[in-house]
Amino acid sequence: MLKNKNILVTGGSRGIGKAIKKSLECKGANCISPSRNELDISSLRSIEAFFASLDVELDGLVNNAGINIVNPVEAINDVDTEKMIKTNLIAPLKLIQYAVKGMRKKPSGRVVNISSIWGVRSKEHRSLYSLTKFGLNGITRALARELGPDNIMINSVAPGYVNTEMTNQNISSDTQKEIVETIPLGRFASPDEIAKLVLFLLSDDNTYITGQTIVIDGGFLA
Ligand SMILES: NC(=O)c1ccc[n+]([C@@H]2O[C@H](COP(=O)([O-])OP(=O)(O)OC[C@H]3O[C@@H](n4cnc5c(N)ncnc54)[C@H](OP(=O)(O)O)[C@@H]3O)[C@@H](O)[C@H]2O)c1
Repeated sequence: MLKNKNILVTGGSRGIGKAIKKSLECKGANCISPSRNELDISSLRSIEAFFASLDVELDGLVNNAGINIVNPVEAINDVDTEKMIKTNLIAPLKLIQYAVKGMRKKPSGRVVNISSIWGVRSKEHRSLYSLTKFGLNGITRALARELGPDNIMINSVAPGYVNTEMTNQNISSDTQKEIVETIPLGRFASPDEIAKLVLFLLSDDNTYITGQTIVIDGGFLA
């Protein structure tokens, strides 16, 4: 179902992106996962240069790379604001713009945007992150309508707490223990669990889901 499909995954060096890359390779997909040196998504010039050198048409795109700068509102500065918006919001849109050129020539295409539960709800110190992830879900909805007629399906996956470097950087181990107690399934997700959902959405098994933000959080938001 994914064999020989050309799928671009951003942020494949670690965390959720690394798990997606590994799972795609196991299914025989041609997973294109550039390092930050090859594709710095915060730079429009880098995105343009990357696509100029890409010699395949994409069947799928996973906008996974992202950053999370956590700050109380008074501490937010313009540099961080610009960095967050460029990386988490403008880059996915730009990457989709380039990717759909090839997808339109194929029978179907798939885009998965990795959002967050903080793109559905929010909490203190997450205003910048929520700004970008709510926005990303908006892109998903608008483009599902626009690209549906070309059989291009686009969805957001909104993970809750996942065991990755991003989580460990932003949440102390004591706070992590407190959070675990509020999750019905009693644990954080593994990156592989997120990857399984992403692979389903990328595959031909998904024939009718588009424009959705699918929460995968062990019941946390319930
Ligand atoms: N972890 C969670 O609990 C969680 C929950 C909900 C949503 N998410 C979302 O899931 C996605 C992946 O998160 P993660 O936890 O796996 O993150 P992570 O472990 O911090 O990894 C982030 C990845 O993004 C790449 N990246 C960041 N900025 C980049 C740039 N300007 N250009 C190219 N690559 C860049 C990093 O590359 P380098 O190795 O070069 O730095 C790395 O591969 C993000 O969009 C995040 O918002 C995560």
